[in-house]
Amino acid sequence: MSSIIKGDADAFDANWKAREESNYTHWVRGEVENQIQLAFRNHWTLFSELMDKEPLYNGGKRVMEIGCGRGSLSCYFSDAGYDCTLVDLSEKVLETAEKIFSKNQLDAKFLVGDANDLDITDNSFDVIYSIGLLEHFEDVETTLKEQMRVLADGGIWFGYIVPKYSNNVQKDYAWINEVLKGYQENHATELNKEEIFRSDHGSERYIPILERLGLKNVQASGVYPLPMISHSIDFPFSLMPKKSELELVRHFKKILNENQKNTGTHPWLCKEGYGNAFLVWGVK
Ligand SMILES: C[S@@+](CC[C@H](N)C(=O)[O-])C[C@H]1O[C@@H](n2cnc3c(N)ncnc32)[C@H](O)[C@@H]1O
Repeated sequence: MSSIIKGDADAFDANWKAREESNYTHWVRGEVENQIQLAFRNHWTLFSELMDKEPLYNGGKRVMEIGCGRGSLSCYFSDAGYDCTLVDLSEKVLETAEKIFSKNQLDAKFLVGDANDLDITDNSFDVIYSIGLLEHFEDVETTLKEQMRVLADGGIWFGYIVPKYSNNVQKDYAWINEVLKGYQENHATELNKEEIFRSDHGSERYIPILERLGLKNVQASGVYPLPMISHSIDFPFSLMPKKSELELVRHFKKILNENQKNTGTHPWLCKEGYGNAFLVWGVK
């Protein structure tokens, strides 16, 4: 079973049921309208760019998202013609994901499953990724081993990890969120919110394990170099009024354009420890 130390399957299930944000869709085909859609758009363009540039990747289209939640990144993969399988411990969230996919005429398979013990045959996928999963494990080795087992030779692997940070881009903006919270009338759900374990490990924790498990050309970088601005106790996901979000997105796009001009690399990349997350990737 899972090695999550606080917040087991029931906690994740309860969390998904309780949160207003469970109903938001972070994937859109057209223009993005809020900061989370902007984030997933950048995850997608970054992943695609890294896949295009990786000479060892076999170019296969069989994709698995593990700990998929609503499968926001997988919507992009499915829309681009990849053959997607979405796996999560929470039945509740898989139902939500299925509804989102079907509403948008996107195809995927949905599997209830544990990242530490996948009921999937060896070498089944050409692309495997998780977004916001690995930091919830105390023992990452078991799930990494499982993911390497089901990854095909030449398959590309991504781990997008959101550790506990106290000194990153968010720190200069924490006060804005405190001010904005005054607009939230009812704080009752705050008391019921499950505290789910999150580690503070950086990429140095993952890279040696992945290399030992046979992943090649392993690389890492900070990602998501923007603050998350929110009025809600469901921070960071619940959204401000549409007009405010659109204005924020306009400013964020300008910052990202500047980043790209200054660095010449994908604007979502940054120094590890500065952004809200980091990405580790490599090829089997
Ligand atoms: C923080 S959410 C991320 C959701 C999604 N990847 C996204 O981008 O929005 C973590 C997800 O991992 C799932 N999860 C937690 N432990 C798991 C495990 N052992 N096996 C499979 N899924 C798991 C949770 O149910 C939850 O949906």
